[in-house]
Amino acid sequence: MSLRLPFFKNKQTDTKGHCEIEVQNVPKHVAIIMDGNGRWAKKRGLPRIAGHKEGMNVVKETVRAATKYNVEILTLYAFSTENWKRPKSEVEFLMKLPKEFLHTFLPELIEKNVKIETIGDFNALPAHTKEAIQYAKEKTKDNDGLLLNFALNYGSRFEIIQAIKQIMTDINGSTLSIDKLDEDTFSEYLYTTGLTDPDLLIRTSGEQRLSNFLLWQVAYSEFWFTDVLWPDFNEEIFHKALQDYQQRKRRYGGI
Ligand code: IPE
Ligand code: IPE
Ligand code: MG
Repeated sequence: MSLRLPFFKNKQTDTKGHCEIEVQNVPKHVAIIMDGNGRWAKKRGLPRIAGHKEGMNVVKETVRAATKYNVEILTLYAFSTENWKRPKSEVEFLMKLPKEFLHTFLPELIEKNVKIETIGDFNALPAHTKEAIQYAKEKTKDNDGLLLNFALNYGSRFEIIQAIKQIMTDINGSTLSIDKLDEDTFSEYLYTTGLTDPDLLIRTSGEQRLSNFLLWQVAYSEFWFTDVLWPDFNEEIFHKALQDYQQRKRRYGGI
């Protein structure tokens, strides 16, 4: 079965002539490194924060598309543990964005049965940021549609170190035996516990690196890069990424 997309003005076809998405083969978990907001603003002679603001609107469009295509988990890299290095004014602006995003979008998220979660060092966020997100998590906790997972103050190396510390504590306290420690058990100690690993990882803006995102979890993800800057990302480009994903052969080391 294929999902036709009549809302495209020009029907999208790739070099192989594919223009539809197979419903059965939609990636369950899509992770996106939303990069290029600053460059988008610079190109327009605008301050970097204008790029972040436009990027927030694109998050809304992307969430709408993800619900339409029946993606189960959408993990969005919104702020890394390294992004604190940025000018104070930019960090402050970024920390206010979740509240603005939820103020304008939470009713629609609830209506779409979306559940909001975060991964990252949540406690270290400013109080006003935490409050806005906590409220949205509470309001959506029973929803079982798309899981919208924001990586906020997220760093993969920090996550792994935290996991190791907790594992050591549990081994010392005899709640975990060292013989029981395998890949699945290790995964349970990460922020992403209970989530399947990303099937598809998208990065915008032309950079082809992970920037400390989900190092453990993307071991067998399909990577998809585009030069498009995040504020210019849209449903059509997302659709293209899903189509390309559907042409990939995932072998997991087999033949
Ligand atoms: C991504 O855009 C958003 C965050 C990292 C918060 P950037 O702000 O990194 O934009 P560029 O890479 O400088 O263009
Ligand atoms: C990665 O983008 C982090 C987010 C998108 C939130 P960066 O812009 O921080 O990554 P680098 O510095 O180019 O590697
Ligand atoms: Mg960047």
